[in-house]
Amino acid sequence: MQEPIIRITERPRPPRPEELNLRFSERAVKELEALFTHYPDKKSAMLPALWIAQREYGGHLTADAIAEVAYRLGRSYAEVEGVATFYTMYNKAPVGKYMLEVCTNLTCMLCGAYRILEYLEQKLGIKLGETTPDGLFTLTEVECLNNCGDAPVMQVGDIYCRRLTPEKIDELIEQLRNSEEHTVVQLADAEVQIHLSEQEREKIEREAASGII
Ligand code: FES
Repeated sequence: MQEPIIRITERPRPPRPEELNLRFSERAVKELEALFTHYPDKKSAMLPALWIAQREYGGHLTADAIAEVAYRLGRSYAEVEGVATFYTMYNKAPVGKYMLEVCTNLTCMLCGAYRILEYLEQKLGIKLGETTPDGLFTLTEVECLNNCGDAPVMQVGDIYCRRLTPEKIDELIEQLRNSEEHTVVQLADAEVQIHLSEQEREKIEREAASGII
């Protein structure tokens, strides 16, 4: 049996200026330009810019991704890295296609969150913080998901799975194995889209459809 992929925790080396390899798509650049108009300075767009980077770099923020955000916002690498590493929603290491984020805060804990975690560990053959060898699932625990009335709760991409039981988990894992929805990249895109106005989203869509971007 293959060994599970262990989460890498070392700090990646920042690229030197001459190594900068910009990867944002034209669409991403347009989104970023639209976001800049929302704020008095570019720095203020850092959080949505990091969501764009998380999407454009396939689900996690590499050193190149952080360097690209720093370049586009005109800030230092260290400043952007400080923000990216402060918030848990930005992935600093490769993760699976789906992030299973189990809430283990008080209400969920009292309603069996750790039994749910153990069940997931056994079912997927990985420990907390690990990714399955097929690269599909990463298992993590998170603080309160603000849905305590439906505990125990787990977030998977852009959806909440509520009142979890082993049966519901079996069903969900089966669905995800045969799905292209609720992925880490889709969550990042959804976060980008909610930061844009309807008019901005429509304009970017029109430009994409007409081949301008
Ligand atoms: S404690 Fe789990 S959603 Fe609030």
